[in-house]
Amino acid sequence: MVTVCRGCCCGSAAKHPGVDHGEQVARLRAAVGDAGRVRVSECLDACGHSNVVVVNPSPRGRENGARPVWLGWVLGEDMVTEIAEWVRAGGPGVAEAPATLELQEFDLRKGARS
Ligand code: FES
Repeated sequence: MVTVCRGCCCGSAAKHPGVDHGEQVARLRAAVGDAGRVRVSECLDACGHSNVVVVNPSPRGRENGARPVWLGWVLGEDMVTEIAEWVRAGGPGVAEAPATLELQEFDLRKGARS
């Protein structure tokens, strides 16, 4: 499952002008297809990283020890494509994340909330 934050900052045209946030969700849903569910959430309390997307491992990924992967600054169309391709390949714990997505990862346990 992929969780797309659409709270006070993520998805905000005022904070991120020039990004079609609604289209971003629609594109992600279409690209993920039957490989997983894409849901929209309220603020995930990491606004400094908006737009935030969380990629949750599949049951197989969890068996392999994977944990949810938090991605920040998901603003470009290329990131939507890479997230969808990763999920379709199996996601966390099953498939290697694209290198560009690894650069967008952040860890809430390391005080990344803002
Ligand atoms: S609005 Fe997305 S983390 Fe706050």
